[in-house]
Amino acid sequence: MARFKTALVGCGQMAHTWAELLQHEGDVEWVALVDVDANRAHAFRERHRLDAPVYDDVHAMLREAAPNVVVDTAIPEARRAIVVAALERGCDVIAEKPFAPTRQDADAILAALARSGRRYLVMQNRRYEPNLRAIRRAIESGMIGRVEQVHADFFIGAHFGGFRDHMAHPLLLDMAIHTFDQARFLLGGARAETAQCLAFNPASSWYEGASSAVCAFEMEGGTVFSYRGSWSAEGFRTSWESAWRIVGSRGTILWDGEGKPEADIVEAEEAFLRPCRRVAIDVDAMPEVGHAACLREMLAALRSGRPSETEAADNIESARMMYAAMESAATRAAVRVADGSPVALRL
Ligand SMILES: NC(=O)c1ccc[n+]([C@@H]2O[C@H](COP(=O)([O-])OP(=O)(O)OC[C@H]3O[C@@H](n4cnc5c(N)ncnc54)[C@H](O)[C@@H]3O)[C@@H](O)[C@H]2O)c1
Repeated sequence: MARFKTALVGCGQMAHTWAELLQHEGDVEWVALVDVDANRAHAFRERHRLDAPVYDDVHAMLREAAPNVVVDTAIPEARRAIVVAALERGCDVIAEKPFAPTRQDADAILAALARSGRRYLVMQNRRYEPNLRAIRRAIESGMIGRVEQVHADFFIGAHFGGFRDHMAHPLLLDMAIHTFDQARFLLGGARAETAQCLAFNPASSWYEGASSAVCAFEMEGGTVFSYRGSWSAEGFRTSWESAWRIVGSRGTILWDGEGKPEADIVEAEEAFLRPCRRVAIDVDAMPEVGHAACLREMLAALRSGRPSETEAADNIESARMMYAAMESAATRAAVRVADGSPVALRL
């Protein structure tokens, strides 16, 4: 019998990637496809040659198709309703990022998780990147000493059309969540403690909401993480992985998000400008990266019962950075990342 009786909810663009990856998993049996636009679900079934019934309502599907795993690739605004309903019907859920679009939605999902005893795992494909993993190993080896600052820049003029054009915070909710999660990954899973954020929409932006933001976080352990980003910046595009500067007590790691990362490490202590030695960072090839690697890891975690890297208990900490950034932007004040309450800064 198949281990994963799987229902996919939200047959849009990302769902194609998931279907192509899942078709290689021998223990995945498709039991339902759901989209509020049933035509999309029918077209999806044709394209991927799936033999599963189509629904336009997740509750009806859960009653009739009885999946034990729900894959949620619908829009973020639908996440809470889909995930809570699936957990309450005894399903484990694997979803696209973000965890949930608001702190209130996330809290409702966490409460349903606690009640149900099921699991919720979130796609954070951008942490499965060989250069990023190499930087984390270099940091852990002490190459640049104690890490005190992490800075990430993201500037891409992205003309999506669709739901992102109408979101209040397209950059923070749909993209910065990746970068925030990458920063936590680099810092060994550290949580953020405080957040300050100015989120804005430049006059030339084609988005309705805030396409741009400048954020500063105090991370546990004392590291300061800064993020500057824009989805409406034309010219000199950064990588989708962001461009990174990680400053330690003995030197700096630079990564443009595309090429190989390098470190510049202090060689002599006594000088106005201390001479540094340029060091390449060894990067190990990965058999799979991005979506494929993250999805395989989540399925392996479900099969074995061990926690996944992107299990709810960890991923909520990345999501809370996003909620805190939006709350800080709304109140124009620094907030505690854990609960959004106002906070006096130590800085
Ligand atoms: N990890 C990544 O790199 C990455 C990249 C792009 C998108 N995403 C995420 O994937 C998700 C989907 O994005 P997309 O680009 O595929 O969007 P999309 O608009 O192409 O598809 C979303 C689908 O969800 C359906 N839908 C909406 N509400 C629904 C509901 N209540 N029940 C069932 N179906 C519903 C829509 O009809 C649509 O077919 C989002 O959470 C987005 O953030 C992740």
